[in-house]
Amino acid sequence: MDPSRDNPFVRFAAFWWAIGVISLFFVVLFLTRLAVGGDDAPNVLEETARMERLKKRAEVDAAQKKNLQSWTVSEDGSTVQAEPTAVFDLLGKELLAAKPTPSKDPAQVVPGSPTAEALAAAPASADFAAVDAMTPPAGTAPDPAVMEKGKQAYMLCMACHGQNGEGGPVGPPLANSDWVAGPVSNLIRIQFRGLTGPITVSGKEYNFPAPMAAMGAASTDEDVAAVLTFVRNSFGNSAPPVLPEQVKALRSEIGKPPLTQADMLPFAP
Ligand code: HEC
Repeated sequence: MDPSRDNPFVRFAAFWWAIGVISLFFVVLFLTRLAVGGDDAPNVLEETARMERLKKRAEVDAAQKKNLQSWTVSEDGSTVQAEPTAVFDLLGKELLAAKPTPSKDPAQVVPGSPTAEALAAAPASADFAAVDAMTPPAGTAPDPAVMEKGKQAYMLCMACHGQNGEGGPVGPPLANSDWVAGPVSNLIRIQFRGLTGPITVSGKEYNFPAPMAAMGAASTDEDVAAVLTFVRNSFGNSAPPVLPEQVKALRSEIGKPPLTQADMLPFAP
C-alpha cells in the first residue's frame, strides 16, 4: 500500500493547504471590492459590461427619439405631426405582418422541405448586373406619386438614418451616400438581407453598435421600389428611380444572411 495515501500527516497538511487557498481567494475578493469602491460600484466584470450596454442602449433610444420627433406624414392629403408612438405603432404592424422567412443557409435547410425544393429550382445566384441594367437612364425623373408613397415608407428608415438622411449614432447617412446613388441591386439586397460589419459611406468608415436588419420581406415590390426611389431623390441625392421589376427579380435574396460591404457591387467612382 502507498504509505502517503493513508498518512494522517499528509492529510493534515493537505487540509491546511485547502483552507489556505480558499482564504486567499476571499482575501483577493475583498481587496478587489475595496479597489472598485464597495457595494455601490459595479464590482464584477459582467456588471461593468451591463452598465456599458445600458449606456449604449440609452444613447440609441435618445437618438431614435430625437429623429422621430417632428416628422410629418401626409395622410389623405392632410399633413399631421407624427408622434414617436405613432411610428412605433406603424413599425409594430410592419413587424406583425412580417412572416418569418425560412432560412436558406444550406446547413439549416431540411432536405425535402419546400425551401429545399425552391432552392434546387432557383438559379444559383440572381444576376445582379442584369438587374442593374434595367435601371432607367440618368436624368429620369421619379413619379411624384411614387415619391409620396416612398416618403411615408421612409418613416421606418428614419429612426436610424435620420429625418433628412443625415445619419447618426445608429445608422450611416443616406444623404450624399455613394451606395444610394450606386447600383440599385445593392440597395434592394440591403433591404432584403440587412447589412452588417464596418461600412464606408462617402469616404468615412462607420462601425455601428447594431447591424441593419432585413426589412423588405413583408412589403410589396412597389413599396420597396418606392422607398428606394424616395431615398435616391431626397436629401440632395438625385439618381434614376428603382423599378418594382428590379425588386421582384431579387426576391430570392430574402432569407440569406446579412450582407457585408464586400458582398456588394462596387459603385462607379
Ligand atoms: C434599425 C436601424 C435601421 C433602420 C430602421 C434602417 N437602417 Fe439602413 N442601415 C442601418 C445601419 C446600422 C447601416 C450600416 C450597416 C453596417 O454596419 O454595415 C445601414 C446601412 C444602410 C445603407 C447603406 C449605407 C449608406 O449609408 O448608404 C442603405 C442604403 C440603407 N441602410 C438604407 C435603408 C433604408 C432605405 C431603410 C428603410 C427602409 C433603412 N436603411 C432602415 C440601420 C438601419
